[in-house]
Amino acid sequence: MVFEAPDAESAHERIAQVELAEEDLALDRSLRPKMLKDYIGQQKVKDSLRILVEAAAARGDAVDHILFSGPPGLGKTTLATVVANEMGAHIRTTSGPAIERTGDLAAILTNLEPGDVLFIDEIHRMNRMVEEVLYPALEDFALDIVVGKGPAARSIRLDLPPFTLIGATTRTGLLTGPLRDRFGVSFRLDYYAPEELAQIVVRSAGILDVEIDAEGALEIARRSRGTPRLANRLLKRVRDWAQVEGDGVIDEDTAARALSFFEVDSLGLDAVDNRILDLLCNQFGGRPVGLTTLAAALSEDQDSIEDVYEPFLMQQGLLVRTPKGRTATARAYEHLGQVPPEDL
Ligand code: ADE
Repeated sequence: MVFEAPDAESAHERIAQVELAEEDLALDRSLRPKMLKDYIGQQKVKDSLRILVEAAAARGDAVDHILFSGPPGLGKTTLATVVANEMGAHIRTTSGPAIERTGDLAAILTNLEPGDVLFIDEIHRMNRMVEEVLYPALEDFALDIVVGKGPAARSIRLDLPPFTLIGATTRTGLLTGPLRDRFGVSFRLDYYAPEELAQIVVRSAGILDVEIDAEGALEIARRSRGTPRLANRLLKRVRDWAQVEGDGVIDEDTAARALSFFEVDSLGLDAVDNRILDLLCNQFGGRPVGLTTLAAALSEDQDSIEDVYEPFLMQQGLLVRTPKGRTATARAYEHLGQVPPEDL
């Protein structure tokens, strides 16, 4: 493998992108649990992680490489940080598209300390050449590099410290087989139950020093699309509304009025979700619609429809995928305030 030096301009661009993303993250970071005991929901995943972490710690090894998959906002990054904290290790965070060249990855890998966690978000978007450098790093903790050019070129192998790769992806199906095979464990995160989200809202309200009762928390939870990131965001908006229009305390009535004010729908569906349902029920007259047609009609890319919107609509029993295309269910018509067709 020949490493190219990253040019200064693209490096600056990438740093600027990372800073933007970090500003966004800082908002949520204070609310994220640091340790497994504080993490609410995903019980099965937590139980498995506890065993992995305890066993690796007792042996003095790095934890096996882990893949987290699932829709955005369900805790993939948070769990990666939790694993690092539980191991008392450092975490280095990057993302598939940010590692443009093999040299970028080599720089990251050679700077790791023993036991470190390397977190790669959107790992399915990593460039194939970069991915190939990762294989020996994952399997043998080694980096193969070519020094020199032409007939004088020779390959040398650098040893890397043992480390844990934690990859995150919205869909495991987008990963190449060889990369998927190199993870020791793979966890799929599911949407959270309203009761779990309500517990998260109560915990976050405590951190933000906001007064909330159980019914107020459940009202926010019900409208959070099964997603902790959204629950925490809505909590902050409801807090603002309660501060200006109420007495600052969040009960069920305050939460319901605030969320209606912000046009958050009773199931937590956003404008795109509702447009998808409207297209299926009305514009296409209930006929099955293919993904390409749906994407064109919505001006959204196909990946977002498949990874972000459809999973929740399907989980809610509002949309079904059939061999002929996507169709809306009777519940979708009812959600839009319409009478479902006879044959549904
Ligand atoms: N904040 C965001 N996600 C959380 C979770 N799963 N548990 C506790 N607090 C959270």
